[in-house]
Amino acid sequence: MPFLIDDFDQAAENYSEYAHVQKDVFDKLISLVPADFSPSMGLDLGCGDGRLSRKLLDKFSGLRLIAVDISPRMVSMAREYLRGYNAMCICGDMDTLSLWQNMPNLDFVFSNATLQWSVDLSSLFRHIRNVLVDDGLFAFSIFGPNTYRELSLELGFDLPAQGFSELFDVKTGLKEFFEVVNFRKQVLKKEYASFKDFLLTMRMTGARGGNKRIILPSQIRRVEDSIRRRYGSFLVCYEVGLFLARPPRR
Ligand SMILES: C[S@@+](CC[C@H](N)C(=O)[O-])C[C@H]1O[C@@H](n2cnc3c(N)ncnc32)[C@H](O)[C@@H]1O
Repeated sequence: MPFLIDDFDQAAENYSEYAHVQKDVFDKLISLVPADFSPSMGLDLGCGDGRLSRKLLDKFSGLRLIAVDISPRMVSMAREYLRGYNAMCICGDMDTLSLWQNMPNLDFVFSNATLQWSVDLSSLFRHIRNVLVDDGLFAFSIFGPNTYRELSLELGFDLPAQGFSELFDVKTGLKEFFEVVNFRKQVLKKEYASFKDFLLTMRMTGARGGNKRIILPSQIRRVEDSIRRRYGSFLVCYEVGLFLARPPRR
């Protein structure tokens, strides 16, 4: 998906300045991981600029990490950011077989705010199951289709988020390969100074999903007024699934 790579390439440099929601989701996800879990070989799928991969390495001493992202610019930032850490950064696509054929066995697969971009979640889960050792842990967060829903209704057209998988379907797909040990669905409300501020954040975090549709100033005013009337400020909702899964017991 070249459009997606372009969007994330363009976002790479300023990503961390704008990715507040992704950081909040990371904190929520990592808080679910059992305190006594101490992985030795991990994967951060969709590592972005590597800042949150570094948090993983700081948290789990003894962890060796493979950090993968499809965006070359994100990967080069991650390489800088993870210099001196026990990490290997790879530019690769989670939806291609070659990435998984070259993957060593892992006891921790982590992914924050990325899997909603997979074109085939079921195959991806199978690949992850194949590389995860029997006592390994798969922890991920994923955005659901109610993300930006109120904006999309006000605008009168779907945003790319409306194409994300239903979280219930994600859970069902996951159960084909894993035992789901924790699943939480949350709605995060984030306040923006204005609709324009939100659109800037979307662009700077690469979250446009290739949507370059022009939104007219009159639409911006109308949507902004309507959202402010409803919530009292410019609030945007993010639907997030937090999952912990383990290979099924034999
Ligand atoms: C919202 S960012 C999340 C980055 C980081 N995990 C974080 O939480 O800040 C999503 C990342 O997924 C990457 N990505 C999207 N599709 C991908 C794919 N098919 N394979 C690997 N990475 C992908 C993007 O390039 C982007 O860096």
